[in-house]
Amino acid sequence: MDKIVVNGGRRLEGTVEVSGAKNAALPILASALLADGEHTFRNTPGLADVHTMLKLLRTMGCEAERLTEGPKGTVKVWTRPAITPEAPYELVKTMRASVLVLGPLVARHGRARVSLPGGCAIGSRPIDQHLKGLEAMGAEITLAEGYVEARAKRLRGATINFDMVTVTGTENVMMAAVLAEGRTVLENAAREPEVEELARVLTKMGARIQGAGTPVITIDGVASLKAVEDHVIVADRIEAGTLLVAAAITGGDVLVKHAVPEHLDAAIQKLREAGCRITAEPHGLRCVGPEVPRSVDITTSEHPGFPTDMQAQLMVLMAVADGTSIITENIFENRFMHVAELDRMGAHISIKGTTAVVKGVQRLSGAPVMATDLRASASLILAGLRAEGHTEVQRVYHLDRGYERLEEKLRSLGADAVRMKA
Ligand code: EPZ
Repeated sequence: MDKIVVNGGRRLEGTVEVSGAKNAALPILASALLADGEHTFRNTPGLADVHTMLKLLRTMGCEAERLTEGPKGTVKVWTRPAITPEAPYELVKTMRASVLVLGPLVARHGRARVSLPGGCAIGSRPIDQHLKGLEAMGAEITLAEGYVEARAKRLRGATINFDMVTVTGTENVMMAAVLAEGRTVLENAAREPEVEELARVLTKMGARIQGAGTPVITIDGVASLKAVEDHVIVADRIEAGTLLVAAAITGGDVLVKHAVPEHLDAAIQKLREAGCRITAEPHGLRCVGPEVPRSVDITTSEHPGFPTDMQAQLMVLMAVADGTSIITENIFENRFMHVAELDRMGAHISIKGTTAVVKGVQRLSGAPVMATDLRASASLILAGLRAEGHTEVQRVYHLDRGYERLEEKLRSLGADAVRMKA
């Protein structure tokens, strides 16, 4: 297991490139199951979760590989007619987003057997809405031995109103609907940019989708789809936001290349309220951080609200702000596991249910800390950038699920951060 050691106190300066979006790449790779032939995706991030998804596609009978030469992040997937429509527990337990193969498999092959993802560190994360959508379209769902089995001769279009906004639920059912008979209307659909990006890819395959990015998505089923000849995956807005906070917390001046401003409106607004000067430049977003951030309150909600995936990162900034900040987490029931570790670094954060009260302190001190989940890991690295002395973040396999060589990107901006064997 690796650890990352950060020696804090350095101001970050320069330009850094954001990789392709993890939460776009995962559903897009799953969508390759919808059409036979050779799919080519570019700017695919080099992440553990992407590696797992490619492995999953291979276990089902696809060929999938990341090319070592040619444009950055080129991944090819060859989908064959003869697919084993199963996602085994061994893989699903390591990455719950594996459940995204469910919709494509039922739509294309009339059946799927996918291990139930189970919970994870940040919450129970059920998939009842995914199943509700497939059932509404005529799939027969059975749960047995920790697996969900779904069968349907041919899915029929339906109107589905999600009980709550679900990103992968919207994506799974949208992928099922593109080959269903007739029209499907998704109401209370997720509006995340990654949902729009998936719809762009499905449209390239020949799908007929209207309204992606709005709460109502209409899909008219088609008989078959064709492989994606070339698609460049959109930049990762959460990695971009994380790098903006790295500039903010070190009082630095950083240009985050490929960041898309309209994908981060809520986070940018909070960073500006906290005293950051953020400007859109031709190739990305520039952030100039304040000496001491101003305290702001944060409440996470579905897009376009403040993203839950940026909550831990903003909390670290608030930990060294000039007052008290109230941070409310409305999406996941257990997404404050970074708090205990930050308090060990000298932060003053107390939790009351789904709310954290963050009393800003003047200094954080480096310490050995433990990563527990993906965004918590990133927040501990950010804290290390500000803290006096050395911070050792252990179990960085959590970080590697969603960030491509983050310590190298930070080092290129002047950070003293190195990866070592734990
Ligand atoms: C996606 O997870 C992202 N993952 C998450 O990113 C992100 O935090 C989350 O959306 C919210 O934006 C991917 O896209 C691969 P949800 P997802 O379904 O789809 C409840 C990261 O750090 N719910 O939108 O699993 C659920 O428990 C990861 O990159 C049900 O109750 O999240 C949660 O409380 C973490 N039943 C809420 O809805 C369902 O059937 C939102 O979950 C589905 C969801």
